[in-house]
Amino acid sequence: MTGYLITVEGPDGSGKSTQARLLAEHLGAIYTREPGGTELGEKLRDMVLDPNIEGLSDRAEALMIAAARAQHVEEVVRPALEQEKNVVSDRFLESSVAYQGYGRGLGSEEILDISMFATQGLKADLIVLIDVDAPLASNRRGKNLDRIENAGDDFHSRVMNAYRAMASDDPERWVVIDGSGTVAEVSRQVIDQVEVRLEKHCLLYTSPSPRDATLSGMAGWGWKK
Ligand code: TYD
Repeated sequence: MTGYLITVEGPDGSGKSTQARLLAEHLGAIYTREPGGTELGEKLRDMVLDPNIEGLSDRAEALMIAAARAQHVEEVVRPALEQEKNVVSDRFLESSVAYQGYGRGLGSEEILDISMFATQGLKADLIVLIDVDAPLASNRRGKNLDRIENAGDDFHSRVMNAYRAMASDDPERWVVIDGSGTVAEVSRQVIDQVEVRLEKHCLLYTSPSPRDATLSGMAGWGWKK
């Protein structure tokens, strides 16, 4: 048996960090975040987001985030799952596909490859997308922007479109939540929808992990061997 990895994704300004924390609290799961979650990861995060660092290449950015992810999975996520703890990660692999793959234009396949190298094949069991339209997200980001928040409206539109495309390509693994309401309204929807999915897939806390279940019933969850 292992725990479940649930990730929360969305554009900057979607309010996803608050929702990830509330979800983790509700499930009694470990909350963690990317880039970050480890000492090394937090240092890499500071560098990647530092608005004073100029000229960082897009590929260097992608690899720094992948390095942070490798450390995060090895040091935090995998050990927790192996101890049958559930983990809620504020961003994970799909952030890289959206931001570096589509936003920076580095290509989704290439970014997926380096991310899967970093995670040694670990993928989220369930991904919650906090969906907000560009003007609302931009408004919520405010004026004090980090390096990636400052990448421009076109960049952020590509990111949101990439998320929507990934979610519609794999509806069994993604839950899309309208993020335009209040924190409490959005949180209610996130928790309800996650519980529905967990129940639907017989994953509720006490049941055996899908990794122990038959592969046929779990095809939609993208189970590997
Ligand atoms: P974010 O999670 O939005 O934190 P905060 O709520 O404190 O702003 O910030 C992390 C930033 O890192 C965000 O702009 C997205 C970016 N990012 C990537 O570009 N690729 C990734 O793979 C990850 C995990 C994050």
